[in-house]
Order: sequence, then C-alpha cells, then structure tokens
Amino acid sequence: MYPDDPSEQDRDLSPARLRSDGDYDNSLRPRSLTDFIGQRRVCEQLDLVLQGAKGRGSTPDHILLSGPPGLGKTSLAMIIAGEMGSAIRVTSGPALERAGDLAAMLSNLVEGDVLFIDEIHRIARPAEEMLYLAMEDFRVDVVVGKGPGATSIPLDVAPFTLVGATTRSGSLTGPLRDRFGFTAHMEFYETDELVDVLRRSADILEIRMDADAGTEIAGRSRGTPRIANRLLRRVRDYAEVRADGVVTLAIARSALQVYDVDELGFDRLDRAVLNALIRGFGGGPVGVSTLAVAVGEEPATVEEVCEPFLVRAGMVARTPRGRVATAAAWHHLGLTPPAGALTSSFGVRVREDPTESLFDDL
Ligand SMILES: Nc1ncnc2c1ncn2[C@@H]1O[C@H](COP(=O)(O)OP(=O)(O)OP(=O)(O)O)[C@@H](O)[C@H]1O
Ligand SMILES: [Mg+2]
Repeated sequence: MYPDDPSEQDRDLSPARLRSDGDYDNSLRPRSLTDFIGQRRVCEQLDLVLQGAKGRGSTPDHILLSGPPGLGKTSLAMIIAGEMGSAIRVTSGPALERAGDLAAMLSNLVEGDVLFIDEIHRIARPAEEMLYLAMEDFRVDVVVGKGPGATSIPLDVAPFTLVGATTRSGSLTGPLRDRFGFTAHMEFYETDELVDVLRRSADILEIRMDADAGTEIAGRSRGTPRIANRLLRRVRDYAEVRADGVVTLAIARSALQVYDVDELGFDRLDRAVLNALIRGFGGGPVGVSTLAVAVGEEPATVEEVCEPFLVRAGMVARTPRGRVATAAAWHHLGLTPPAGALTSSFGVRVREDPTESLFDDL
C-alpha cells in the first residue's frame, strides 16, 4: 500500500503491504481452500459457490472480497482461480483510469478466466460503468471517436468471473456492489488461527520455533496474518543474530520488545491515534478527519488500517457523533477514565462492516 514510502521502517507493524513483503507473500501464500487457515465461514460459503458452479459446468458468480489489509484477499482470489482450474488476470482499481484500459483487459479474457481487480473501490467512473455491462451481460460498448461523430461498437466478452477486493466496501457504488453474486466479509483472525499460520510459515521458512513462542507472536499480530508473518521474520533475525537461531518464548519476547510491539500488538499509528483521541480530545467524540490531522496521516489510512482493529480490540467506538475512546483505552494509556466513559465498544450501534464509513464528514 505504501511501496515507495521512505518511512517504511516505521511501518514494520502496519498491515499494509511493504516492498520487502513481495517474495514472502508469494512463498507463504496458501494455495488451496484446505490450505487456507481460518475464515471458516467465508471458506465454506465460497466452497459452495465454487462447487455449485463446477457441478453446473458454468463460471461462478462475481465475488467481492471485503476486509482490512493483510487478511488474505489476494490469496483467496488466487485460490478461487486455482480451485476452478482457470487462469487469473490481475489488475487494480487505480490502474483502470480510462474505460479503454478495462476494455483491453476484458477483450483478452478467455471463457472461465478470473479477472481480479484489487482495490476495486478506486476504479475510475467510466471504467466502472463499462464494468456494469460486462458483469451483467458479458458485453462492452467501446466508443470510437469524439463528439457528434462518435459511434459505439458493441463487443462480446467471454463469460468470466470478476473477483474484486476492497478494504472499503462502503465506498463501492450501489450498482457495482449489486452486481456481485457473493460478498465475503473477511474478519480479523483469532490468536489460535494465527498460531497455525505461524507454524505453517515457520515450516516453509525452515525456522525452528517453540509452541509458546508461536502463541506469543500470534497474540501480538493484530489479528492479521501478514503481520504475523512479518513479526516471525523479525524474531528470526533476532534469534539468529543474538542467539542460536531457535525462536523460544524468551527470544520472541525480547525481539518484540526491540521492535516496540506492545502486548496487544498495537503499532505506532494505533498508539498515536489513541493518544490523540484521549490526550488531545479528552476521549472524544471526534471526527476521523480531525484525528487523522492530529496524527499526521491520511484519513483513509486511519479509517481503513487503524480503526477497524482498535474497534475490534474494544478501544474505540464509533458513535453517530464521532469516535470515542472506551474505558479500556484510557486504562491502556495508564490513565483513569472519566465517569461515564464507554465500557465497551459494543454498547453502541456500529455498522456491520467495520471498514464502512459511518459519518465521513464528522
Ligand atoms: N488464511 C491464511 N492462511 C495462511 N496465510 C495467510 C492467510 N491469509 C493471509 N496469509 C498470509 O498473509 C499474507 C497477506 O495476504 P494477502 O496478500 O492475501 O492479503 P490481502 O488481504 O490481499 O492484503 P491487501 O489488502 O494489503 O492487498 C499472504 O502472503 C499470506 O502469507
Ligand atoms: Mg492484496
């Protein structure tokens, strides 16, 4: 997500993709649904969609994968293609700036292909409109020429399955969302699932890791496999440089301390947001854009990367008037919460999709 950011080092813990993740992401990617750890509900639903289509000998419905970064959306897209025995063509919303870019991709598809559009919420409007028709009728209208002389040439598109990934399903337009036959809502992983992810990665990377060390790392991975894998690599460095290479509990703890990972797995940005919310705004309510300015980040980063986990950790609640710190957040910073502080982030109405924007203008 921030491949060219010079402050990459600061983001060691961010769930967003870093340049250094590239090779590891590929070697550690699960290859089949049975290989895919966690997300049992999503996997079961997806398996039904795929088996159903296979049985009928048709292409599966279009599939939308929604959830915070690093939970396995790209991996699932590749698994979908693998399970169907189809080829996958990969592109992303920002790359589809002109309708022509999309038309070129669509006209090259072969029957049964999977077209994967990452960050589909960032697709440009003209391309999005072309996509509606392609998804529904497997047809596109290519406009040739300009002004009154322009003509539109209808082109057939081979039946394909669109797999879209988004960290912000709330910013997808209604018509686009409606054209997906199945939406998979990816959830943060439980610690025991991350333990399995770590065990699998340690095997692949030939790292010797004690069971309790795995549990320790998993507990601080922010519910995110990408972070678990990244922490594992950092702990391995520590084990190799400062010890004999075996990742024990003591080694894991010391390494995580060096990397400034707190016991809940909060990263620099998470802590900055909590600090701003509590020390700067007395616990809220405060709008997400104001919070973002206070921590010097893009509102989208605070909202898509940081907030979902803080909400899930019970530290921040989203109320109609803005973001509010819960009593747990005050305690986490070693402060006494004021009387009347929310005791949980679940006491208030929160939207079903944590990445969805409640009140953008707050
Ligand atoms: N269920 C899983 N089991 C094992 N490893 C996983 C799982 N999900 C994700 N991973 C690991 O996490 C890494 C990141 O996953 P992936 O690239 O699929 O996430 P993503 O949701 O596409 O993230 P982004 O939104 O940043 O594109 C993968 O390389 C893989 O190693
Ligand atoms: Mg991805």
